[in-house]
Amino acid sequence: MIIKTAEELSAMQEIGKICAITLKKMAEALTPGMTTKELDLYGAEILASYGAKSAPIACYNFPGHNCISVNDVVAHGIPDDTVIKEGDIVNIDVSAVKDGFFGDNSGSFAVPPIKHIYEKLMAVGKEALNEAIAAAVAGYPLNGIGRAAEKCAKRHGYKTIRNLCGHGVGHTLHDDPETVYNYYEKREKRIMEPGLVLAIEPFVSIGDNYVVDMDDGWTLKTPHRHQVVQYEHTVMVREDQPPLILTLPD
Ligand code: CO
Ligand code: CO
Repeated sequence: MIIKTAEELSAMQEIGKICAITLKKMAEALTPGMTTKELDLYGAEILASYGAKSAPIACYNFPGHNCISVNDVVAHGIPDDTVIKEGDIVNIDVSAVKDGFFGDNSGSFAVPPIKHIYEKLMAVGKEALNEAIAAAVAGYPLNGIGRAAEKCAKRHGYKTIRNLCGHGVGHTLHDDPETVYNYYEKREKRIMEPGLVLAIEPFVSIGDNYVVDMDDGWTLKTPHRHQVVQYEHTVMVREDQPPLILTLPD
């Protein structure tokens, strides 16, 4: 989506904030002993309280309101009877729709006590998102986003997942541009324009750089079950300055 009016901007800010508040509250609720299904239903209640609906259900009939991916599940984890334990890394991805406008954000959270290596991985995951966001400036190439994320991961001895991408977002969950690569894709020639809304979401891995499908048609893991973290924001591209982050809780 390209935001052209103040009304569109405020609608996108509203759904962005709802997604951010829901993600924040779900992360705060993470407790050993709870199931991912219980966490998901809590998130669904928060979305409903703001008059928003789960985007994975609205767009893909996903079997859950939010994607909750524990440990070696990289993405699209289905909320179920999986019990959250101490030491787990839990990725929560909240995307939702209100009045026809979509937002999308996510984060990987540790349930203490956390292994030192994962602490570093999570710090680099956040850094990769920040550097990728900083590259989203009007007039610059779209592929600069993945280039920045990959460069950051590499600098710390990690990799980005090449077959999971960010995307345009706004009128639907996966809006134009369909793909925002998480690596430097030189065949990607598009230039960003002001008002463009993107979900930027680098996945940073300790080893494997791609994911494979599990049998349920949703769950994604790396071939060697390497730990991956992911952080995501929905942003609006601007001229001469970093983008406006739409998925902030306040
Ligand atoms: Co997402
Ligand atoms: Co996304």
